[in-house]
Amino acid sequence: MRHFLDLSDFDAERLTSILDMAAAMKSGAVAPKPLAGKTVGMIFEKPSTRTRVSFEVGITQLGGTPLMLSSSDLQIGRGEEISDTAKVLSRYLDAIMIRALSHKTLAELAKNCSIPVINGLTDLSHPCQLMADMQTMRERLGPLENQIVTWFGDGNNVANSWIEAAALFGFELRLAGPEAYHSPAELIAWARKKGANILLMEDSAEAARDATVLVTDVWISMGDAEGTRVADLQPYQVNQKLMSLAAPDAIFMHCLPAIRGMEVTTEVIDGRQSAVFDEAENRLHAQKAILAHIFDENF
Ligand code: CP
Ligand code: NVA
Repeated sequence: MRHFLDLSDFDAERLTSILDMAAAMKSGAVAPKPLAGKTVGMIFEKPSTRTRVSFEVGITQLGGTPLMLSSSDLQIGRGEEISDTAKVLSRYLDAIMIRALSHKTLAELAKNCSIPVINGLTDLSHPCQLMADMQTMRERLGPLENQIVTWFGDGNNVANSWIEAAALFGFELRLAGPEAYHSPAELIAWARKKGANILLMEDSAEAARDATVLVTDVWISMGDAEGTRVADLQPYQVNQKLMSLAAPDAIFMHCLPAIRGMEVTTEVIDGRQSAVFDEAENRLHAQKAILAHIFDENF
């Protein structure tokens, strides 16, 4: 079964060929229809703008039919076992994309499905986002292994997938944030064992110096309690002063949705170095390439 659950399930060669396909789809060089006659269910346990619309449009462009399944309309919302849901949906659908509250739900779904499952974000990771981000970095900056990426703020699901990407694609990754907010130590240890160059830093100015990518995300992810997050993460706001310490052609990245004035200033996100809308667009192309790969590994 070819699921797409996390980047760490793949080798760099396979992911690079998916990125090459995404670029070819974006340029219009190829327009395959590997999903003709197939139906892909999209289960959402949390809200979404980009993931929902880019998957729905992408599935349609690949010749398939998307089926939107909000968890509040499904029996899982009333307590039906995810394993039973998986077995039933496998009899109707050809693949499932899920945005799950818990990574355990994703794992349970994948274990019990006889059709491919794609991770559209969990509390622990967001691999489709990272494929779009890698496509954006290649377009804007060139070879991934030459880049220095600094992640500012919360070590959340998106940060975790950046760590996996660093291990696979070979760029330097600096994680700038308070110690208590860093990504899980086991994940960082796994990445380092794979040869990743990952630096944990608490000084945001030092972390920004000469970086080619400055990236952040909301300080309060879906499902997080606010607590003291805003005060704790304030020193890691990406502002023009930080951007000026980075490499001259550095780009700013953010998966969106963003809160202007909190994790990033308006000046930066709307400034000339911002790549956020290319990232959002590339969700479509990268996911089409992922879907094509799932249904035919020659893609
Ligand atoms: N970046 C991202 O996944 O956005 P949505 O929550 O809008 O899908
Ligand atoms: N870290 C954010 C990403 C949203 C796309 C969240 O989980 O809410």
